[in-house]
Amino acid sequence: MEKLNNDLFLRASKRLPVERTPIWIMRQAGRYLPEYQAVRAKADFLTMCKTPELAAEVTIQPVDILGVDAAIIFSDILVIPEAMGMPLEMHEGKGPIFHNPIRTESDANQLKKIDPTKELKYVLDAVRLTKKNLNGRVPLIGFSGSPWTLLTYMVEGRGSKNFSEVKKLIYNKPELAHSLLNKLSDTISDYLSAKIEAGCNAVQIFDTWGGILSQKDFLEFSLPYVQKIISQLKRNDEPVIFFAKGVHHNLDKMADIGADVLGLDWTMNLGEVRNKVGNRVALQGNLDPTVLYANKNYIEQEVISVLEAYGKGSGHIFNLGHGVLPDVDPENVKALVQFVKDESIIFHR
Ligand code: CP3
Repeated sequence: MEKLNNDLFLRASKRLPVERTPIWIMRQAGRYLPEYQAVRAKADFLTMCKTPELAAEVTIQPVDILGVDAAIIFSDILVIPEAMGMPLEMHEGKGPIFHNPIRTESDANQLKKIDPTKELKYVLDAVRLTKKNLNGRVPLIGFSGSPWTLLTYMVEGRGSKNFSEVKKLIYNKPELAHSLLNKLSDTISDYLSAKIEAGCNAVQIFDTWGGILSQKDFLEFSLPYVQKIISQLKRNDEPVIFFAKGVHHNLDKMADIGADVLGLDWTMNLGEVRNKVGNRVALQGNLDPTVLYANKNYIEQEVISVLEAYGKGSGHIFNLGHGVLPDVDPENVKALVQFVKDESIIFHR
């Protein structure tokens, strides 16, 4: 068994006692950090993802600079469609673009069936190198997009306002949608299992676009596939975090798919959700990411509000309700981490 110097995050994931609330931040390795920008100035985004030395370096930056309680491997959810044969362009300002989106059966047939230990070996190499360089300081989190969120990007081809193309697919060609979601689920469970095998101590599944579905469609096109992934995962007791943005409904069902932790966005109240499902899962979140634009006193008050909303006892992992924004002041992010460390102790006495 690996010995970790700081396992607060893993203990909180299992609702075991902790001395204080652990914190990590979604998108903590990113553009708001000048140290990230310095690496990024030398290599484009995908090159960084595909070069284990660079990926490991920026993965560890927030551990050194912010003092967070977990690292998350630097990569992207879109490396899976890229490996399946969809060339990915990361466009400054416009976000990710696939020039040949999947709309028809014949488009879908063009997708390669991949073995993540081969086509995504570079991610696993980055995990192994990061684990070595972290040297047990904090746990390392691996991640994937959910099948639904990956399908959304693959069908839309880019960020979208109305998600018209992926909605046309689910209403007009539901069998094709289900067949793609099934294939993605199998690939993702192989991929996350390989990440755990390579050394990840936990995995998070991002369903960034779960919230664009109606309650009924979420239960048909997103949740069952996340459940399938979790049931197929090869793991010992590595926790699984399920983060579904904008999904207020079906919390009861979400707590029953085998995830150890539910990640919540900032529009929900941690205490209310805890009352509903806190005896089954730990909760992660959920400070509004834009609060980091405010001054430090305001940030501190909001940290206290989030801690109070959850209340006393273990089972809370502090995080933002979505990724840290690229134009926040890194000093505010550092202050956030310190506030959580200082202010959370009294919730665990
Ligand atoms: O959390 C971390 O620090 C690990 C790294 C990580 C990245 N992307 C790096 C990244 C993680 C966990 C992701 C997940 C991801 N990627 C999601 C799910 C989480 C979420 O935010 O909803 C999604 C939807 C994507 C797709 C994606 N990748 C988008 C929409 C963009 C462009 C918008 C943006 O924020 O820049 C990316 C690019 C991306 N992924 C960057 C980083 C650091 C910026 C690229 C750059 O440096 O130019």
